Amino acid sequence: MKCTFFGHSSFLLETEHHSLLFDPFISQNPLANNIDIDSINPDYILISHAHGDHIADVEHIAKRSESMIIANFEIVNHFAEKGITGFAMNSGGSHLFPFGNIAMTHAYHSSSFPDGTYGGNPNGFVIQAEGKTIYYSGDTAISSDFALLSERYDIDLAILPIGNVFTMDYFDAERACKMLKARKCMGVHFDTFPPIKIDHDIVRTYMKLKGQDFFLPNIGVQFDL
Ligand code: NI
Ligand code: MN
Repeated sequence: MKCTFFGHSSFLLETEHHSLLFDPFISQNPLANNIDIDSINPDYILISHAHGDHIADVEHIAKRSESMIIANFEIVNHFAEKGITGFAMNSGGSHLFPFGNIAMTHAYHSSSFPDGTYGGNPNGFVIQAEGKTIYYSGDTAISSDFALLSERYDIDLAILPIGNVFTMDYFDAERACKMLKARKCMGVHFDTFPPIKIDHDIVRTYMKLKGQDFFLPNIGVQFDL
């Protein structure tokens, strides 16, 4: 499986036959201006919650690439009105897709569309495909739920927000990694806006000090999982 980070909390997971795009907020992110959204052709778009910094490019990419949305009931309904197909889930549920299994987890955050309409509860996802298990928490605070996830899933990669202010910070992300017993942890939701700017060297040094296998991905660079 391959992963490409597109800035903020957006990334693409590619299995041999399928590609999954998460939380596309690319065309409005100045840090990702070298990414052409018309070069991304996902089979599925997974959406953690309805905030603008997670859905900005959903409609454009979904319509062009005829991708299917996987999200909560409210988000799937919202995009169905725009003619986009979707598969609705809710916290605690899972479903086997052609590429692998998706479990929808709970996130501690809020979720409304940019126009203020209700976006359902915020979520995260556990993705199991090609023998790998990836957990993307979505925007969330730290929670003891992470310990429950590690009881059921053997997590290879945890993708967690670290930018603070709107989500947990890197101190809590490190504690979350320990609770998740994840082999590797990737930080997202940093640097995009002034309040979530981080000092990369301090974060890296802290994670090293704590013995946590952690990395900050570079925008547009593909890596193997
Ligand atoms: Ni949010
Ligand atoms: Mn966000």
